[in-house]
Amino acid sequence: MKTEDLKVLFSEDQLQKRIKELADEMNSFYNGEEVIAICVLKGAVMFATDLVKHLNMPLKMEFIRLSSYGTGFNTSGKVNAVDISLPDLNGKNVLIIEDIVDTGLTAKFLMDFMHTNFHTKTTKFCSLLDKKISRRTEIEPDYFGFEIDDKFVVGYGLDYEGYMRNLRFIGYKE
Ligand code: IMP
Repeated sequence: MKTEDLKVLFSEDQLQKRIKELADEMNSFYNGEEVIAICVLKGAVMFATDLVKHLNMPLKMEFIRLSSYGTGFNTSGKVNAVDISLPDLNGKNVLIIEDIVDTGLTAKFLMDFMHTNFHTKTTKFCSLLDKKISRRTEIEPDYFGFEIDDKFVVGYGLDYEGYMRNLRFIGYKE
């Protein structure tokens, strides 16, 4: 897959505009209460850092690392916790920030993990992209940026074999 062969699905402007809208919704919902934002590495790194810049409540950032994808385009169907060390989240407003919900296995794993380990005040799941059509679990994100068809997308944090995370837009190959 080459960058020059990609079609733009969401331009930098579209992404930034939608992220600002999501942040406005969150600012209203949390109403100044403290939030612990958990960025799921590596894919959500661009989204999370842009999103939190628009959030106006007291906020801490945490980073966890999971892996679910096998090689290339195919999901392995299994979620592995590579590094999930977190502080005490009891009583906190937790906002999990993901790049994309595909099968939903990662989102389910994380929500189950939170419920098993902590009594949070709120746990919300936010994903930039939502591939609803590929869902294999019941889970739905509380916030999502865009719904997309069943296509493999890259850029703005999303990778193909580790590459293309640095693109400012989200693209796909036809
Ligand atoms: P899920 O567990 O199947 O919902 O997949 C979630 C993870 O798979 C995401 O955090 C991504 O890392 C990866 N993923 C799913 N679809 C895509 C895609 O279209 N492009 C790049 N990575 C993807």
